Amino acid sequence: MKDELIRKDLKYVWHPYTQMKDCESLPPVPVARAEGVRLYDYDGNFYYDTVSSWWCNVHGHNHPAIKSAIKEQLDSLEHVLFAGFTHRPAVELAERLVAITPPGLAKVFYSDNGSTAVEAAMKMSFQYWQNTGKEGKTRFLSLDMAYHGDTVGTMSISGVGLFNERYRPLFFDSFKAPTPYCYRCPCGREKGKCALECLSRAEEILKENADTIAAVVIEPLLMGAGGMIVYPVEYLKGIWELSRKYGVHLIADEVATGFGRTGKMFACEHAGIEPDLMCLSKGITSGYLPMGATLATEEIFRAFYDDYDKLKTFYHGHTFTANPISCAAARASIDLFEEEKTLEKVPEINGKLVSFLEEMAELPIVGDIRSIGAVGAMELVKDRKTKEPFGMKERVGDEVYRRGLEKSLLLRPLGNVIYFFLPLCIKGDEMDDVFRRAGEVIGSVAYLVRSS
Ligand SMILES: Cc1ncc(COP(=O)(O)O)c(C=O)c1O
Repeated sequence: MKDELIRKDLKYVWHPYTQMKDCESLPPVPVARAEGVRLYDYDGNFYYDTVSSWWCNVHGHNHPAIKSAIKEQLDSLEHVLFAGFTHRPAVELAERLVAITPPGLAKVFYSDNGSTAVEAAMKMSFQYWQNTGKEGKTRFLSLDMAYHGDTVGTMSISGVGLFNERYRPLFFDSFKAPTPYCYRCPCGREKGKCALECLSRAEEILKENADTIAAVVIEPLLMGAGGMIVYPVEYLKGIWELSRKYGVHLIADEVATGFGRTGKMFACEHAGIEPDLMCLSKGITSGYLPMGATLATEEIFRAFYDDYDKLKTFYHGHTFTANPISCAAARASIDLFEEEKTLEKVPEINGKLVSFLEEMAELPIVGDIRSIGAVGAMELVKDRKTKEPFGMKERVGDEVYRRGLEKSLLLRPLGNVIYFFLPLCIKGDEMDDVFRRAGEVIGSVAYLVRSS
């Protein structure tokens, strides 16, 4: 079964973010089933899902409550168009989302993934200014190492060079502020010993261009695909204050950080900020089904609310908007946060994660460690003093990935950054086992690098 699956996969399938030639030596792992934090292949081998299946699984695989919500919904309504029609799962979920997100967010616009949730927020902000007579506010400010998705619009405001550079001719122009990447400070300062000079640069851009900027778009506190960069709460707070001062929207992209991953339900809560638009996906259904949501303030919503012939309608939507089964999964997942006291588990996860990272920091190839909530990362470098990174040819992150699989770990790297994006259901003994195995893998790669 397994060999046949792989043969047909390589014959018919094109995988995302994958150089398919690599599959000649390392074909994709066929997963037969999953349970809790473990993925099982057809031979009964397991892999710890240390990256929550691309940052979305929250309560564990095969959770009976989410499964039964899905099955129950399937028995009554699988899908219906969402223009002119509505249904209970979408209405109830919207009410729940408004209740648990930061104050001010009042309306929920559904879509089906993270990129579309951000794209919808950008279009809402842009059109808000058109509808309210400030037609010049058409541009966006984002961070130069941000990741907001893979559509051309969201790539235009992203900055992860490896993913984006090739498509640059397709992008629209946007403003980029330096990333508060403390390990490699763009302002040449030392981690923890600065006056947030990077924030001053963002302010300069806003001051000079506020009349052409619609919104600032930001991943609150944790920049995922940029390298699991964790930045200071003061920076996030500062960006929000600047957005108020210069009259631009703040779009909080909580696609990765939402639903408990940073220790609070939403990362914005750490800074006590109230974004104008918030983008959700991934963990919204605990990773069981695709879903995106863009939340907007009443003020933004009202700018679109008028007679039909005034042409203020938000002409945007996707076929699977508010899919009832996805909504049912999301409702069940939000219920579980209360029933299983999910957020209360995060401090223990963070404690173990930090101890492990501190241990790893002793290795000569570990240049930086960073963490927030259930997310932790280490950046591997060739030289700790100069912070020289490993090159494309060395593929040190990929070596960790390959060795990880041999030790039952799914350690998918982001270039030279090895990270853990743990499901919030992970238990203490499971973490001990994960970190013991990961320590062996990373230690062996450090040894290999030093002896080569
Ligand atoms: C912060 C952030 N925004 C947007 C996206 C895009 O989400 P999707 O892959 O569902 O389109 C991602 C995906 O990783 C993300 O991390």
